[in-house]
Amino acid sequence: MPTVADNFFKLAVVFLIVGIAMGLQMSISGLHDVTGAHAHANLLGWASSAIFGVYYALNPAKARARLAQVHFWVYAAAVVVMIPALYLMLQGYAAMEMLVAVSSLLAFAAVLVFAVVVFGKTPEAATEPSALAG
Ligand code: HEM
Repeated sequence: MPTVADNFFKLAVVFLIVGIAMGLQMSISGLHDVTGAHAHANLLGWASSAIFGVYYALNPAKARARLAQVHFWVYAAAVVVMIPALYLMLQGYAAMEMLVAVSSLLAFAAVLVFAVVVFGKTPEAATEPSALAG
């Protein structure tokens, strides 16, 4: 599996653990104040990262492009900052709002990089030999 796909799956699993832990925390305490952080940990952290990982696993030529690395590191930095900041903000630490805003914009930038990877040309030299080629 390409390194970037493996990295996305590692990021995904970390956030699945974090997201479920927050869900359990809310269920056990009966306080649902961090629903937003839980939902974003699970959907941006776990589900979206896993989908990125599947994409790169299925497209190894695109995974070798430098932009794929940029996509991973910008996205990882964004969610690693956003989820704890959102969690704290929802618990009343209003000062976290700026961090949530900046990291959200960073996540958006990473998604735009992913769009360039998807719509961009596959590097010729890095193209995988077709399984159907004789
Ligand atoms: C053991 C696992 C989980 C537990 C105990 C759990 C628990 C919860 C709880 C207590 C809420 C708050 C409900 C409310 O106040 O209305 C919630 C909301 C939510 N959860 Fe989970 N959750 C779990 C896993 C997941 C997973 C895996 C995902 C997504 C991949 C997810 C996505 C969401 C979303 C999107 C919301 C917000 C729903 C809304 O506001 O309408 N949860 N969860």
